[in-house]
Amino acid sequence: MQLLDRARSIGWYHTLELAPDYATDGMFDLRPYVHEYGLPERMEGMRALDVGTWDGFWAFEMERRGAEVTALDVDDERELDWPPRRRPKSFPATPRGEGFRLAKEMLGSSVERVSCNLYEAFSSELGEFDLVFCGSILIHLRDQLLALERIAGLCRGTLIVAEEYDQLLNRLPFALARYRADRDQSVVFWKPNVKLWKHMIWTAGFDRVLDHGRFKMKSNHGFVVPHAVLHASDRVIPNERADELADQ
Ligand SMILES: C[S@@+](CC[C@H](N)C(=O)[O-])C[C@H]1O[C@@H](n2cnc3c(N)ncnc32)[C@H](O)[C@@H]1O
Repeated sequence: MQLLDRARSIGWYHTLELAPDYATDGMFDLRPYVHEYGLPERMEGMRALDVGTWDGFWAFEMERRGAEVTALDVDDERELDWPPRRRPKSFPATPRGEGFRLAKEMLGSSVERVSCNLYEAFSSELGEFDLVFCGSILIHLRDQLLALERIAGLCRGTLIVAEEYDQLLNRLPFALARYRADRDQSVVFWKPNVKLWKHMIWTAGFDRVLDHGRFKMKSNHGFVVPHAVLHASDRVIPNERADELADQ
């Protein structure tokens, strides 16, 4: 099958412009929101990591800006953190990443996609990155702090986090997070407010955590997700785990 026909025949998470007159019909069209994230305009000479890449929208965007990009995601859906009642009865037999691979081919991209669980992502295997981009993945994880620790271990420069936050708790002075896995259909365990996202990023080892902005992301299915964008840098915790593994 021709590449374009294949692209038309599969489901997409991201809207991607894969040909001059063709864009995929993704669940999320992020093009109107790119300016909200504060990516550097020029990324030549930078190593960048896109965490939880799915179809690769952010990986391809960072490559377009000149970075050498690694895109990380799991191949097997059984590795995703699902609350038990929400866990599908059966999982797809085919590995994830079909959309990414097709887009990579159609765009003539050099982004390297690695199949790796974020909980097991170490610099001893992946190296360190000048920019780590983390979009809408932590909100779905059971252990957001462990994931952030892993990210800190990979980041020698700037971390950009863009995650959903709890709007109600943002307005309450003493509240930090809501437990959300008490609903049958939830794919979220903990929904932090912006203050807690910042605390957790700091705890993971970043000395400097700044508010970059907030915006409402609209899906092509009509629901709206409030996002906070945070920029973190100055990792103070040495990457001991990498040193430890390198010594073995
Ligand atoms: C909601 S999508 C966000 C996609 C993209 N980052 C964005 O901003 O549009 C979450 C992505 O994170 C990936 N993901 C979830 N848990 C993961 C884990 N433990 N390790 C690696 N990737 C994971 C999912 O497979 C999915 O591609």
